[in-house]
Amino acid sequence: MKIAQRMNRLGTETAFDVLTEVNALRSQGRDIISLAIGEPACDTADYIKQAAKDALDLNMTHYGPSQGLPAFREVIAKHVAETRNISVSPEEIVVVPGGKPVIFFSILACIEEGDEVVYPLPGYPIYESMIRFAGGIAVPLRLREEHGFSFDVRELRKSVTDRTRMIIVNSPQNPTGGIIPKSDLHEISELALHHDLWVLSDEIYRRITYETPAESVSQFPGMKERTIILDGHSKTYAMTGWRVGYGVMPRALAMHVTRLMTNSNSCTATFSQHAAMVAMTGPQESVTRMVADFRRRRDLIVDGLNGIEGFSCRKPMGAFYAYPNVTNACRTLGLKDSRMLQQYLLQEAGVAVLGQQCFGTRLPEDNQEYIRFSYVSSDEDIREALRRVKNSLSDSAHVSSFLARQPQAVA
Ligand SMILES: Cc1ncc(COP(=O)(O)O)c(C=O)c1O
Repeated sequence: MKIAQRMNRLGTETAFDVLTEVNALRSQGRDIISLAIGEPACDTADYIKQAAKDALDLNMTHYGPSQGLPAFREVIAKHVAETRNISVSPEEIVVVPGGKPVIFFSILACIEEGDEVVYPLPGYPIYESMIRFAGGIAVPLRLREEHGFSFDVRELRKSVTDRTRMIIVNSPQNPTGGIIPKSDLHEISELALHHDLWVLSDEIYRRITYETPAESVSQFPGMKERTIILDGHSKTYAMTGWRVGYGVMPRALAMHVTRLMTNSNSCTATFSQHAAMVAMTGPQESVTRMVADFRRRRDLIVDGLNGIEGFSCRKPMGAFYAYPNVTNACRTLGLKDSRMLQQYLLQEAGVAVLGQQCFGTRLPEDNQEYIRFSYVSSDEDIREALRRVKNSLSDSAHVSSFLARQPQAVA
């Protein structure tokens, strides 16, 4: 049977392939610690679960408005206005099943064939995938370790042309844990205003910061009219499986995104929305506790990673990922790239992590290697994973025997 050509342009999130591999190894009886997953390990707080049970008992099991429940949009609008220091009305909110559909719908609604979209590299892989799927041209903007994983402003300016239609910014970031400083966001706003661009501001990790809060590009004069804020409950409230997210965007765009919702999902599950509303209006201690746990684990993992020969790890400022530079470890051990290090650690150390290839197409000039460690697991798991990684990499015979089994290995 014939499959439409456009499917060749759609990428994926290879993290899910690694999860499949982890499950396959576990079913063979292997003891694998997964630091690959991008979701809080803790469960959704009881008061939120109770709200969903109540909603089911109240038969909130029917279709709802495609744009989202009005009461929930009221709560979101108030929250976004307070936290971003902008005015927001419920008409500017579209509730969708998770943060991901905001990327899907806003790119489909705004990007024409041949439009250029500037996106962060490394970054969440769905940006690049969706730009190409919509027929756009994906223009990578390098996040540089030496800039605390922000971009080089000169490179940003060079990446914008007459054909640019949108800039995507993610802060705090997946996979680096970096936060884009206010001054760099200001540069984006200047360019967006000058070139009449959309900015898709992925703020899904906004509540998970440690030293300094993350700023939103929407705060600069004239930016609210051209910014699409992506936020949601997956990370903040440990609600990944509930599928609740939202986009904040100009009313005219919200109408189109709502139509995309009508055509695809009809609506976000009504009882999930009710529980998500209670999540925002109820006690926030579970969020505070979770972030405090992440902070402790961040310090633990960064110290541990910096104690491994050939690894060098910056302190992430937000999200729950550490992104050490592992170039020296790869070179010393003869591992071709971070993909091979990822394979080695999974197969030989029993630790699942993600190599940088999971976060965007490699550029020809790329000569540094990184891997992402997600530090959502328990302190014990993190300690044990660090011990395994360190031991397995200090055993060169082990590495050589692994390399001998890899046809494409560079010795
Ligand atoms: C940067 C970023 N944006 C969006 C999402 C999507 O979140 P959701 O699970 O709510 O669709 C993720 C999930 O990992 C993410 O890392």
